[in-house]
Amino acid sequence: MRLSLMSTFLLFGFVGHALAEESAAQADKDAVNIFNSTCGWCHQGGGRAAGGIGPKLMDSSRSDEFILNRIRNGSEGKMPAFGGNLNDAQIHALLRYIRHLKPE
Ligand code: HEC
Repeated sequence: MRLSLMSTFLLFGFVGHALAEESAAQADKDAVNIFNSTCGWCHQGGGRAAGGIGPKLMDSSRSDEFILNRIRNGSEGKMPAFGGNLNDAQIHALLRYIRHLKPE
């Protein structure tokens, strides 16, 4: 009895972990789509280039907090706030996307 309870816990732990990893991978894929459909109008080249309405995001020297905050709250008159439309996982995935941008 004790043993089977243990293995149930182990199984749940394992499945939970696998699901978390899968959803992180899915969130990263979603981030590319979100960026292209929602941010790319203003941030050119998928965020790699300057010259659009918004600044270049690749190699940003801003802190994680700054970037998360900018995506959530926007910048008055310049960039819309996305905190109402995107959930926390999506906003963090966008931060990862921005951090991992490489020249094409
Ligand atoms: C309507 C155009 C527009 C859209 C759409 C837009 N942005 Fe912006 N973004 C801007 C502008 C303009 C700024 C500069 C704001 C400022 O300096 O006050 C900016 C700034 C930023 C910054 C801070 C850059 C820095 O170094 O100051 C980040 C990060 C950012 N945007 C990410 C995003 C993401 C992610 C999305 C999509 C969810 C997005 N933006 C959608 C126009 C836009």
